[in-house]
Amino acid sequence: MDRQEQLRQEIFTKVHEYYRLVHQPTQDAEFIAGKSRINYAGRVFDEKEMFSLVDSALDFWLTSGRFEQEFQAKMACFLETAHVVTANSGSSANLLAVSALTSHKLGERRLKPGDEVVTVAAGFPTTVAPIVQHGLIPVFVDVELGTYNVNPDQLEVALSSRTRVVSLAHTLGVPFDVERVAAFARRHSLWFIEDNCDALGAKWNGKYTGTFGDFATFSFYPAHHITMGEGGAVTTADPLLKQLATSFRDWGRDCWCDPGQDNTCNRRFEWHFGSLPAGYDHKYVYSHLGYNLKLTEMQAAVGVAQMDKLPVFVEKRRQNWQHLYRGLKELEEYFILPEVPPQAEASPFGFVLTIRDGAPFDRQKVTAFLEQSRIQTRTVFAGNITRQPAFTDSGVPYRTVSELKNTDKVMTDTFWVGVYPGLSPLMLEYMLETFRQIPGKLS
Ligand SMILES: Cc1ncc(COP(=O)(O)O)c(C=O)c1O
Repeated sequence: MDRQEQLRQEIFTKVHEYYRLVHQPTQDAEFIAGKSRINYAGRVFDEKEMFSLVDSALDFWLTSGRFEQEFQAKMACFLETAHVVTANSGSSANLLAVSALTSHKLGERRLKPGDEVVTVAAGFPTTVAPIVQHGLIPVFVDVELGTYNVNPDQLEVALSSRTRVVSLAHTLGVPFDVERVAAFARRHSLWFIEDNCDALGAKWNGKYTGTFGDFATFSFYPAHHITMGEGGAVTTADPLLKQLATSFRDWGRDCWCDPGQDNTCNRRFEWHFGSLPAGYDHKYVYSHLGYNLKLTEMQAAVGVAQMDKLPVFVEKRRQNWQHLYRGLKELEEYFILPEVPPQAEASPFGFVLTIRDGAPFDRQKVTAFLEQSRIQTRTVFAGNITRQPAFTDSGVPYRTVSELKNTDKVMTDTFWVGVYPGLSPLMLEYMLETFRQIPGKLS
């Protein structure tokens, strides 16, 4: 072993020692009911993530490199999809998907300001933000209680002569009827963007969500199924869409060299573009006005180690979800329990509950009680985004096809608690015990 490798190994040994001393969970031994906080989500890792991160630090490559390549390959293999374009967040991935569809390289199919995008108002803001940021008009359809996903019966009603895209998230890890939405998109020649940020590992009729749309997007923020701290990705089966997303991510350039590469196309000084001088350096030819949304090597290094744990994480989330479902069944007269369609295998992000009309308590009381009991709660993100100041105070143009009755109910009566793999059976039992106290204490 040469000196360099020997030093690396010594460093890894120390990292392992440090992991065991500082980070290794001993959760059951330490969990004190009512005192220890039960988070809605959190990063779950071991020494492997730390080795990988330190390995990348020792390379000191910093920008996308070998770890990013490995991450892309692992994710493509897991999803059985052709192209994975990494990005620095799920929000950036959503931005890239919409930006790519505005490219002039798509000819008549490119999106233009004023075009309409069918989506839902109950969800995360950055599924909707890039629509508005590109001068497109969001058209909101209602969701169903239980799955908190699009009501597919409203899709046809939402259509107009300007409809060009359907963009929907698999809310909190429960798939919407992705085949029906894909068929709707095909029937009307619409682009289909699947926001899969909350649903990595979910399936519809045996096929992974995130493989049905023209684009799918993913987030690797710590609350998600795997994490890089911050991070995201766009996936697609279409080589042109991959090229467009990559161009927008990398400053809008035409060149596709990886960082540190100079002449991947072997024609760096031979291209001829529009009114540019002949042979203008391809590295500085811009076919789009893009951004820089690239991932760093340290983020990818953590992602590579997390990918190996993904199947176990998904399984653990399912088990935790089932545990809560079985235990909360007895409170069904007060709460609408979450639903998973029979064609779906969820990859739960959280356990979602809606307080029924006429229940003797409201959400505010319930979530305050749970939080006091050290159980973290979350809303379904923006609730009804059209009621957020970003809409009401700024005159953003949008259309709705119905009253969004269920979306409003989600905004006032729905909340969720965690199912992430860091929860132990002891914690889940304490959560159930606390829930069981609600009718007695809050009625
Ligand atoms: C459905 C959905 N889309 C997009 C995002 C944005 O991801 P990020 O936080 O990585 O920007 C989130 C974040 O949780 C999300 O839940």
